[in-house]
Amino acid sequence: MQNILITGANRGIGLALTKEYLSQGDCRVFASCRNPAGAAELNELAESHAGRLLVLQLDVNDEASIKRAVDAVSAEAGSLDALINNAGISGSDGARNMGQLIAAEVASVITTNAVAPLIVTQACRELLQKSDNPRVVMISSGLGSLARTGGNAYAYRMSKAAMNMAARALAFDGAMAGITTVTVAPGWVKTDMGGPNAVLQPEESASGLLTLIDGLSSGDNGNFFRFDGSQLPW
Ligand SMILES: NC(=O)c1ccc[n+]([C@@H]2O[C@H](COP(=O)([O-])OP(=O)(O)OC[C@H]3O[C@@H](n4cnc5c(N)ncnc54)[C@H](OP(=O)(O)O)[C@@H]3O)[C@@H](O)[C@H]2O)c1
Repeated sequence: MQNILITGANRGIGLALTKEYLSQGDCRVFASCRNPAGAAELNELAESHAGRLLVLQLDVNDEASIKRAVDAVSAEAGSLDALINNAGISGSDGARNMGQLIAAEVASVITTNAVAPLIVTQACRELLQKSDNPRVVMISSGLGSLARTGGNAYAYRMSKAAMNMAARALAFDGAMAGITTVTVAPGWVKTDMGGPNAVLQPEESASGLLTLIDGLSSGDNGNFFRFDGSQLPW
């Protein structure tokens, strides 16, 4: 049975990924979120999938909560097959627009989207190394690609470019030996972040992501994919 840990699993792409994994059979999902008490849909799913879905409290910016969640996975599963660093924010106008930028707002997006997934990955490293096919998936964005042109969304673009570099460094770090690390853009998805004009339903993105993640092997280490499995330029 595969053990999967997802951050930001209470809504959007993280929730869709959780449902997609549950529909697939042989896996146990550790669905983490900041506020489990408010995660009604996740809690209902946990009741109807007893033993296959565990809801954990994990704020990616809170190292104590990361440790508690990883300890809970360790006690329950003893190893981790996939860590999906999905939690993310786009930030306020103070993090987006030239003329309105505020340093603290920009820094907070970079902390959540780039620093936190690196720290969560570090916390999961030993558990991942106990799996036969361990994978770390950074849910990034095409906006993090240096090949992309366009202004605004400064903090978000910068944070995802930094996340991409973290993934690239993790992929080639001896301390992460044996763990396949990839970066994935989920597409433009109808979620609170993607908005109503987005072109993909969360389930469509999640279905592609799951096929991609399930098929990952060491040869994919260090690559940047789109949710449909095609490769993206850095
Ligand atoms: N939607 C798109 O079109 C799109 C495109 C490219 C990339 N992405 C990426 O896909 C990922 C998921 O996005 P989404 O569209 O599903 O966004 P969303 O609907 O806004 O959901 C974001 C999720 O991240 C969680 N989160 C935020 N800060 C957190 C923290 N400090 N600790 C733990 N969880 C935290 C949120 O939890 P709360 O409910 O507690 O706030 C929520 O579960 C993000 O990394 C995003 O950058 C999305």
